[in-house]
Amino acid sequence: MRIYLDNAATTFPKPPEVYTAVGQYQRELGAPVGRGAYLEAIEVQRRVDRCRQLAAELLGAGDPRRIVFTFNGTDSLNLALQGLIRPGDHVVTTAAEHNSVLRPLRWLSERRGIRLTVVPCDPTGLVSVEGIREACQAPTRLVCVTHASNVTGSVQPIEEIGQTARSAGALMVLDAAQSAGQWPIDLGALPVDVLCCSGHKGLLGPLGTGLVWLGPAAEEQIDDYRLGGTGTQSEKEEQPETLPDRFESGNHNAPGLLGLGAALEWLRTTGIETVARHERELTGRLLEGLAGIPEVKVHGPAAEAPRTGVVSVTVDGYEPQTLAALLDEHFGVQTRAGFHCAPRIHAALGTAATGGTLRFSIGPFNTTDHIDAAVEGMRELAGAV
Ligand code: ALA
Repeated sequence: MRIYLDNAATTFPKPPEVYTAVGQYQRELGAPVGRGAYLEAIEVQRRVDRCRQLAAELLGAGDPRRIVFTFNGTDSLNLALQGLIRPGDHVVTTAAEHNSVLRPLRWLSERRGIRLTVVPCDPTGLVSVEGIREACQAPTRLVCVTHASNVTGSVQPIEEIGQTARSAGALMVLDAAQSAGQWPIDLGALPVDVLCCSGHKGLLGPLGTGLVWLGPAAEEQIDDYRLGGTGTQSEKEEQPETLPDRFESGNHNAPGLLGLGAALEWLRTTGIETVARHERELTGRLLEGLAGIPEVKVHGPAAEAPRTGVVSVTVDGYEPQTLAALLDEHFGVQTRAGFHCAPRIHAALGTAATGGTLRFSIGPFNTTDHIDAAVEGMRELAGAV
């Protein structure tokens, strides 16, 4: 039996409606988005519009035109960071970030002379609001923070961080790759100027989908990113200035977006709160089971802390990669081991020198049986060191 606990990388399975929508596009519709007036093209456009509307509703974003479709979370973050940061700017980020934030910022600091302050995190991956406040003393262009750590599951205090950023006159960019679809987000109430996420994780769509929400302040300041044909204002050589087409040059991933639309309908019917409750229950069960194995060290927040269903562990005497391979081979439990593209957080966790962690990540279709099998596998392997 395949027990998939790598949902932080990409969720699997997806709701059945997602497979139907992708298949329907591939077999029956097969038209580009926004570029044809025939029956199938109109239907594809209608479904992409619906997907945009659903994404806006799910995130409390108001006007759906502020939702820009991209190809993944990294693409979304590049659009925001490359578009908003100017040479010489001061930018604040955190040690809990993924390389999709750290690498563009590192590149901007080496090639565009930006000044970068990286605020440390504690051994659970949590960033202090005070640390952000201190870092924002100098004039700061933007603060970029992950909502939930992809290594420990810690959910950051983004209301306070966003207020702090805004008080300092900085834009607040939220990386919601590990929270959108799993944790309630209300952009109408949050002090956030830009939200970036993938479509294939908590939003349950196919790989090759992502989105950016651009708030009014960010829209005013952002520069263009990828330029080209949009299917709109085609008589002009200049890039359109209207959202979302200004940032959606080139053909869309139409099958992906139809799948994402079906996933968002599923999330709307099911309710994010229901998904979050299910994942919280399974996370509690996993943490309780692992706590009963003395050789296992859990790196991250307690079950009752604000957290997602991402649980990182180490076992003395095992390389995380070896542990993951054995769990898969003997128990069918699929996880991800290593640094999870988030190098800085491992210094805070104390796992940088020992190959990172083994990470379990729970999705909406996991069951208590999956969790029990994972705990049992860990018990046998840890006991055999
Ligand atoms: N960033 C994704 C992960 O944490 C791919 O696995």
